[in-house]
Amino acid sequence: MAKRRTVHVCQACGAQHPRWHGRCPDCGQWDSLVEETYQAPSAKDKGTGRGANGLAALVPAAGDEKPRRLGEIDADASPRITSGESELDRVLGGGFVPGSVVLLGGDPGIGKSTLALQVAGGLAAAGQSVLYVSGEESAAQIRLRAERLPGLGSDMQVLTTTRVEALAAPWQELVPSFVVVDSIQTIQTEAIDSAAGSVAQVRESAAQLAATAKKVGSVLLLIGHVTKEGSLAGPRVLEHLVDVVLTFEGDRAHAFRLLRAAKNRFGSTQEIGVLNMASHGLEAVENPSELFLEERSTRSPGSCVIPMLEGTRPMLVELQALVAPAPYGTPRRTTLGLEDARVALLLAVLDRRSPVDILSQDVYAKAAGGVRVAEPAADLGIALAIASSRLDQAVPADTAAVGEIGLGGEVRRVSRLDVRVAEAARLGFKRLLVPAVCFEEQKSRTKAREKGADPVCELVPIQDVAQAVDWLRENGMG
Ligand code: TYD
Ligand code: MG
Repeated sequence: MAKRRTVHVCQACGAQHPRWHGRCPDCGQWDSLVEETYQAPSAKDKGTGRGANGLAALVPAAGDEKPRRLGEIDADASPRITSGESELDRVLGGGFVPGSVVLLGGDPGIGKSTLALQVAGGLAAAGQSVLYVSGEESAAQIRLRAERLPGLGSDMQVLTTTRVEALAAPWQELVPSFVVVDSIQTIQTEAIDSAAGSVAQVRESAAQLAATAKKVGSVLLLIGHVTKEGSLAGPRVLEHLVDVVLTFEGDRAHAFRLLRAAKNRFGSTQEIGVLNMASHGLEAVENPSELFLEERSTRSPGSCVIPMLEGTRPMLVELQALVAPAPYGTPRRTTLGLEDARVALLLAVLDRRSPVDILSQDVYAKAAGGVRVAEPAADLGIALAIASSRLDQAVPADTAAVGEIGLGGEVRRVSRLDVRVAEAARLGFKRLLVPAVCFEEQKSRTKAREKGADPVCELVPIQDVAQAVDWLRENGMG
């Protein structure tokens, strides 16, 4: 009998080591090595889902495996399957590609299962054959959830299992066009005997499922948990294996969610989807700006709207600041949804490069609505919100601002100004403070557009923070 050997596998990068280390010698991650049973690589293709007991071996291929000339391959033979969720389709680049594997990752409770069930139910209602595999919830729980979501087809096949091999029979019988596996961390294959959720298991199970999906031509949606560091558990190993990696993020205290593509073999990774978690499931948000500006207080000082860009999509977001005299000692700086370092830097610039003295003040700054703003183009908006609170002069309600601020106080160029201007104009903003360097080129473009029926907004060129503060003093509402 062969001796049982163990190996220490890094849960972050998947590297195997004969001995335990406090820090993975390969990727440098601390405390990530876990002891697993060593699997001798078999003569057959190990790790490709074609091992002797693999799922893929159990399910026959739909097509043949002969090489063909590139020119003879018909790309249109498999049109995309629209998911029924417009925001998901947008991120996927027009729907699922048959035979592709999509990994959906996100924090617990963010709505991954809900999204998967909605898509699965929608496809079932549209007459597609759908297999929903859950290793997390019981069939009754899935039914209960489905009852909250309107318009789901009841023909969807639900399988609750944690064994990859249990999928073979239904996969072969149903030849489903859409398979959901919730979640990849709960599923394990008999081909190897590591625990469920370990890197080896996740990799092998996913490889088997993916190989089967490719063979049969099913779309496979894998749901993956995110570790507390924010990466997908068993991360790098899975990302290589799948065609599309989607991340679902958002603040659980707020209803809106952002869907992004971290990798997409069939489309751009620039598109983002905005969804709203309602009592009857997730719904598409076509106009995120309207959602974010809904509760805006237009009269009080300390607020400024910025047209930020998420991927290719413009969104208007309100930034707020509150400046108060520091009662004792070192002034406090608290930020929510903005980067601490960015706000600290802007405070220093405001203090040195403009007449606003701020360093002895407590400053609280946040992006409203639970949005996270990381774009440098938000700088001018943040600075204006802070100055507005300090000077007690409100930025006019019909004015937004965009621009990056350098340490010299200069306002720098931003990308895609035309898209931002158009979004601000669409939402009824009359004025947009823009970097002076972008002003001329943008003006000629707007001129051309002015002839059309599109609403336009006036652009105010701003050279540096001092000029922005001057503008606020003249035009602000005190
Ligand atoms: P879920 O899809 O279970 O999250 P995940 O699979 O990512 O862990 O989502 C659970 C949350 O969504 C839960 O806190 C309740 C909320 N929810 C709604 O607000 N409305 C709904 O219609 C549904 C089904 C869930
Ligand atoms: Mg879930």
